[in-house]
Amino acid sequence: MIYSYAPMEGITTWWYRQVVNRHFSNIDRYYTFFLTPRYGAVMGRDVREIRIENNRGLSVIPQIMTNKSDLFASFVREIKEKGYEEVNLNLGCPMQTVVKKQRASWFLSHLEELREFLDGIFSSAELPISIKTRVGFDSLDLLPRLIELFNCYPIKELIVHPRLRTDFYKGSVRMEAFDEVYRNIKVPLSYNGDMFSPEDVKAFREKYPDVKRIMLGRGLITNPSLARLCEGNAQLTMDEFISFHMDMQSTMMSVIEGGDIYLDRMKEFWWYWCRLFEDGERLVKDVRKARKTPDYNRAVEKLFNNAVMKERPYFL
Ligand SMILES: Cc1cc2nc3c(=O)[nH]c(=O)nc-3n(C[C@H](O)[C@H](O)[C@H](O)COP(=O)(O)O)c2cc1C
Repeated sequence: MIYSYAPMEGITTWWYRQVVNRHFSNIDRYYTFFLTPRYGAVMGRDVREIRIENNRGLSVIPQIMTNKSDLFASFVREIKEKGYEEVNLNLGCPMQTVVKKQRASWFLSHLEELREFLDGIFSSAELPISIKTRVGFDSLDLLPRLIELFNCYPIKELIVHPRLRTDFYKGSVRMEAFDEVYRNIKVPLSYNGDMFSPEDVKAFREKYPDVKRIMLGRGLITNPSLARLCEGNAQLTMDEFISFHMDMQSTMMSVIEGGDIYLDRMKEFWWYWCRLFEDGERLVKDVRKARKTPDYNRAVEKLFNNAVMKERPYFL
């Protein structure tokens, strides 16, 4: 099985990838969060994401979100020069600000515009293109036509998150829609969505033995050993998590400017990590309150002294 790290804006940054890679195995590739090429200057945070020295030693696939095929092509040229070998198109992002700009999941209810866009990018792009998509905008009505459309292009890999745009990340994944894709798609298929434990992955592999690629998101953020576990290797230990956390903190302190600002980002991770521990919500309260590094360090030390890892330390 090939395991990829899902793109997650604000979370799977270049330095996060580096820290994860120093501590955990079995993650075969990492996607950047969506990069948005513009006419004129590229945004600073996007430049840092694709800088080659920031991604050394890792298999990284830059993800692009745009509705302009000329911008897509010029961005691909730029990343090809840096040595990247594949680019990923975001057709899944459900955010209102994105949909309003007619990008990402907006295309799933505008298939003629999508066809025109795909014609444009596949005829000009200098690298293989993979696509990350949902199964529809607000209903599954257009799914057969969407599959037919995808089958017209040499898509390197189609990563399917079987939810509608209007589902955001709520409710169950729509496996009946994934079944439809599985039965009819002619390009290499990858699955993404709600794979939080090795048991989830095992059940998926039994049901879809031909799908050889799985993308993991929230499950991996919560338990960074998940990909390794899915391959029958060891569960995360407390000592391992503490050492990973220390590395995260010192890396963040060195790359995020503004004194204690990095603590806000650290707390976003604790929203996931508190699920690893018995009574985690209560234990993490002081960590959330900390505004200064010494307070944070005290709160984290207390947490580590008292925390017991759950028998099933998973997102859900
Ligand atoms: C906070 C957050 C940020 C995300 N950012 C992106 C992104 O930049 N690009 C993208 O394709 N998907 C993004 N996603 C979606 C994830 O890649 C993934 O599809 C989703 O979390 C479902 O997979 P999971 O159930 O394994 O978490 C984001 C999801 C979350 C929760």
